[in-house]
Amino acid sequence: MIQLEHVSKVYSGVHKAVDDCSFTVEDGKITGFIGPNGAGKTTTLKMITGILEATEGKIFLDGDDIRKNPLEAKKKIGFVSDNPDNFLRLKGAEYLNFMADIYDVPSEGRREKIAAMAERFEMTDVMGDKILSYSHGMRQKMMVMGALIHDPSIWILDEPLTGLDPKASFELKEMMREHAQSGHAVLFSTHVLEVAEKLCDQVVIINRGRIVFQGTLDQLREGYPEGTGLEEIFLTVTEHA
Ligand SMILES: Nc1ncnc2c1ncn2[C@@H]1O[C@H](COP(=O)(O)OP(=O)(O)OP(=O)(O)O)[C@@H](O)[C@H]1O
Ligand SMILES: [Mg+2]
Repeated sequence: MIQLEHVSKVYSGVHKAVDDCSFTVEDGKITGFIGPNGAGKTTTLKMITGILEATEGKIFLDGDDIRKNPLEAKKKIGFVSDNPDNFLRLKGAEYLNFMADIYDVPSEGRREKIAAMAERFEMTDVMGDKILSYSHGMRQKMMVMGALIHDPSIWILDEPLTGLDPKASFELKEMMREHAQSGHAVLFSTHVLEVAEKLCDQVVIINRGRIVFQGTLDQLREGYPEGTGLEEIFLTVTEHA
């Protein structure tokens, strides 16, 4: 479970990118984090993972305060950032072993685990190649695999489906569903409303740094004439906020 209480982020002492945000990401559910470009999604996700420090407010991961107990809190997280161009000089297999070392993944069973993930994402043949030689989507898959290698309980993914081919996108969505169904929390940002509609149990909508809606899509639709498209509702919600 992720809890945010009155979280704000001010960049360079002037720009309030996230403004007094409070919301809860429950276990056993997939929560979609949606909002226009520049709304504050990436900033919020980076504060939850402890990469950025919140200017104000508190963030709890399964009860652990990310500021007071950063190591304990971070061990629980698998984070896929919006930029997959990392560790380019490492080979795929080296990168995954590096991530497994950092997170103390036991060597027993590690090889099988990496092989199974590579198989699922159709990456088996390129594990010996440098990440530098990968396409955008292949790098994205590698980052997803690295983020999940330690079986984190809380998944946080920033636009994880961008650039993935249909098979990889299908597999990742399946993995997100399986993870939520096994009782864990999944929070991911997306611009694709159709994905949010199909995948999410609940959505959090952010606009200009403020949370303008949290709930199920059915709750979001309440108050709109039947048949109103999600896109139209989203535009209305983020326009009038
Ligand atoms: N390092 C930074 N320094 C200063 N301002 C920043 C920084 N990072 C982000 N911002 C600003 O904070 C606001 C929120 O940006 P953020 O990246 O969180 O938005 P986002 O919702 O993830 O957008 P997108 O959908 O385009 O990914 C924007 O106005 C952005 O310009
Ligand atoms: Mg972003």
